[in-house]
Amino acid sequence: MPSTRCTNHLQNGTDATDQYEPDVTVVANVDNVGRCPSYARPAHSTPAVCARAEWVPFRPTLRDQGIRGRCFAEGVSGVTVARRRPRLAAGRARALGVPTRGTTAPNRLRRVDRWLAAAAWSPLRRAADPLVVDVGFGASPVTTVEMYERLRPVRPDVRVVGLELAPERVVVAQAAARPPGLLFALGGFELAGHRPVVIRAMNVLRQYDERAVGSAWAAMAGRLSTGGMLVEGTCDEIGRRACWFALGAGGVPATLTFSAHLPSLLRPSDLAPRLPKALIARNVPGEDVHALLAAFDLAWERAAPRGTFGPRQRWIAAAALLRREGWPVLDGPRRWRLGELTVAWPPGPR
Ligand SMILES: C[S@@+](CC[C@H](N)C(=O)[O-])C[C@H]1O[C@@H](n2cnc3c(N)ncnc32)[C@H](O)[C@@H]1O
Repeated sequence: MPSTRCTNHLQNGTDATDQYEPDVTVVANVDNVGRCPSYARPAHSTPAVCARAEWVPFRPTLRDQGIRGRCFAEGVSGVTVARRRPRLAAGRARALGVPTRGTTAPNRLRRVDRWLAAAAWSPLRRAADPLVVDVGFGASPVTTVEMYERLRPVRPDVRVVGLELAPERVVVAQAAARPPGLLFALGGFELAGHRPVVIRAMNVLRQYDERAVGSAWAAMAGRLSTGGMLVEGTCDEIGRRACWFALGAGGVPATLTFSAHLPSLLRPSDLAPRLPKALIARNVPGEDVHALLAAFDLAWERAAPRGTFGPRQRWIAAAALLRREGWPVLDGPRRWRLGELTVAWPPGPR
């Protein structure tokens, strides 16, 4: 059933749970300074049925995007936008996606930022335009500000743009902007027309239907500049457990990374609830991710004696065992000691 609410005007916190299943997508028109024209109107700033929005019934062609209905908010000029299928547009962009609960927290993404600062070192250093886009910064811009601070040592002239579909969150974030290095704007998977070298989209797709993942990856990765990297994944509320994919311009995963606060981790498979959306339902026998986590747990058991020297040493030993068993484990003890493990993805035959 298509919803009759206009989610374009939901306020912070109105989406009830982390498992919120979006039932509409919003294509919000964005003016050239990144403001949502609807939001600027007082009559439209409360959660209510939007009189100027039109509902388009479900069409099977949208099913693979996980879309069950669409709300087209009014255009910049106040004229209702025609009923058209969402397109990925450059320049005067239409924000593509579904605004959801904006849960975030300071330092929550420290693990992915630390990894990015190393993994994206070369592309960032080489980039003619060192632009980074953070998709879906949430109710507060704090994790985007932190990413900006963490990437500046890599490339002092880095520019970070935080994008959100929820217009009220973009307005709130303006107080944290530091032009020209750090900006916030309305935008979605179309990246508001930007061509970044790095894209971070953490805890965004988790709230989408699994069928929407491929098209979201393709939309974002398709806008990467040469040699660029998209990082997409999930973490827990305080960032102690995180998993993410790194994808190149082709929009297919190249690596999968696990990262954990080791003193609070009982076994590697405790990370399973934080798998990226594309894997969360695939942790079942017969799937690569299930085999990997089972092998990692076994290696962790076998490495138990090294636990005498602390969980880091145990993790390092388990990572080395996994590699010896033929899993395509990347990096070495320098990164493993951080509670990280990156494997080439898909892992291929062992
Ligand atoms: C759970 S918050 C994550 C905030 C932050 N990235 C973090 O990890 O702490 C997800 C945010 O992504 C936003 N969002 C969802 N789909 C989006 C899209 N296609 N483009 C931009 N933002 C999106 C939601 O509105 C929500 O504010």
